[in-house]
Amino acid sequence: MSIKDVATTPFDDQKPGTAGLRKPVSRFQTPHYLENFVQAVFDSVPSLKGGRLVVGGDGRYFNDQAADTILRMAAANGVEQVIIGCQALLSTPAAAHLIAQESAAGGFLLTASHNPGGPDGDFGIKFNIAGGGQAPAELTDRIHTRSREIRQYHISDQTCPGFAEIGESRLEDMMIRVVDPVAEHVNLMARCFDFDAIRDWLHNKPRRFVFDAMHAVTGPYAREIFVHQLGLSEDVVRNGQPKPDFNGSHPDPNPHDAHAFLEAFQALPEGEIGAASDGDGDRNMILGRQNGRALVVSPCDSLAVIAANHHCIPALADGLKGVARSMPTSRALDRVAQELGIPCHETPTGWRFFASLLDGGYIRLCGEESFGTSSDHVREKDGLWAVLAWLQILASRDMTVAELLDEHWSRFGRDYFARHDFNLSIEQGQAVMERLSTLVEAGEYRDCPVDRFDYTDPVSGHRVEAQGYRLFTDNGRAVFRLSGTGTRGATLRIYLEQHMPAQEDCRQDMVTVLEPMRALASEAAQLEALTGKPRADQVI
Ligand code: G6P
Ligand code: ZN
Repeated sequence: MSIKDVATTPFDDQKPGTAGLRKPVSRFQTPHYLENFVQAVFDSVPSLKGGRLVVGGDGRYFNDQAADTILRMAAANGVEQVIIGCQALLSTPAAAHLIAQESAAGGFLLTASHNPGGPDGDFGIKFNIAGGGQAPAELTDRIHTRSREIRQYHISDQTCPGFAEIGESRLEDMMIRVVDPVAEHVNLMARCFDFDAIRDWLHNKPRRFVFDAMHAVTGPYAREIFVHQLGLSEDVVRNGQPKPDFNGSHPDPNPHDAHAFLEAFQALPEGEIGAASDGDGDRNMILGRQNGRALVVSPCDSLAVIAANHHCIPALADGLKGVARSMPTSRALDRVAQELGIPCHETPTGWRFFASLLDGGYIRLCGEESFGTSSDHVREKDGLWAVLAWLQILASRDMTVAELLDEHWSRFGRDYFARHDFNLSIEQGQAVMERLSTLVEAGEYRDCPVDRFDYTDPVSGHRVEAQGYRLFTDNGRAVFRLSGTGTRGATLRIYLEQHMPAQEDCRQDMVTVLEPMRALASEAAQLEALTGKPRADQVI
């Protein structure tokens, strides 16, 4: 035995954000920084002692080094068995699935999602609980409290046997099982969908499908599914080789960060379907084409379309029971839920709120404006699941993406939606929030009701407050909140939404339709005066 108790002092910046602890790589390289946080988790989750632990990440810079440290700390903290993806790779949904399937006490997911990677980029670590879901607020609060009082951590100073090859080894008394990161997740997908139907449709139609893995973790998963299982050609998967710095890109599947893919897609023949996923494989973007132009499906519409067509997906065909969306996500889903006669829950931003509803059996489908969609098959959002859901629906309905959207809007009307992001200093972000809270006290701005979004989890009874501010007009809404995932300054997000009933023209220019709402939101929040910025830095 070579287990050491190492003396340490607390760091005051280890409060997990929307999805775990994310910081510049350099911060994680500070001596004891990673170890302190990991020990705070071991101290806060007693079931890890004598239990199983899943470890894996998106392959970004520092992934292997962090995995090595976690393994040596797990051995010193009495973990019975670690299950780790080969080369310490696991997409976020694959990790969540493994935690559930292996009845693990939890898992460390090494990712900063779509934040850039590399030595000058970001790293992240998040702890998911038994069942695979993200740690609930009570637990992240406990971990944070522990991180502020920690005085020592435990670590083995034996050389870690490594995780480069599939197989089993031991470290101290702990067993290490290195598993194929792809296989179990792909098996799960094959149980959720009818691969034969998708394969036949893709092969029988003169249409092609392209998937961009953005040099991130989904490359090997996508190759297995699309090339090996669905029989498509190798070039269907673009940028399929995971790289520690994502090839210098910002691996976020949205029209802004994935513009290179959009341009490449634009050059392809009519009728094709495009899709992309993010750094750790939990986000997705769906593309179609109309009149020669690439058409980006709003994640809010994507969720509503999947809900309206859930009967096409074998695993959901027996009904949805309930659905959920995060508060800033447009209300397109609510209209479908109403027609289906099922409840639609509105949760704060962050997947962990869905996990609770999924565990409680309240919902079977959920999603967010931030390009995340998933079902009750796993307790994280799942990029490839969403892409397969679209392919399954398109195959079953024998339609193009544009046709399916048009049909949806002709039934439910269209909720035009855009997110305006402002890069601000922490003080500016705070000033805008304070201004909005004065509007909440007044109850309105120019006769438009303004409120603050608070939420009580119906399963746990846990309450969270001030999850954003909302301004309502007759058929529209503006939502304001500060991002919880950034690692520098403050990012203000303003989500604009305008409903057009089905009788109206649902193919209008989004920017034009949303302009009155944008102007109103900007005035209400006194944006220019408080931030010096008349316009957003980025519109998604
Ligand atoms: C992560 C979470 C999502 C959430 C998103 C919001 O991706 O997994 O559930 O929607 O962060 O990010 P933000 O930067 O808006 O807090
Ligand atoms: Zn992600």
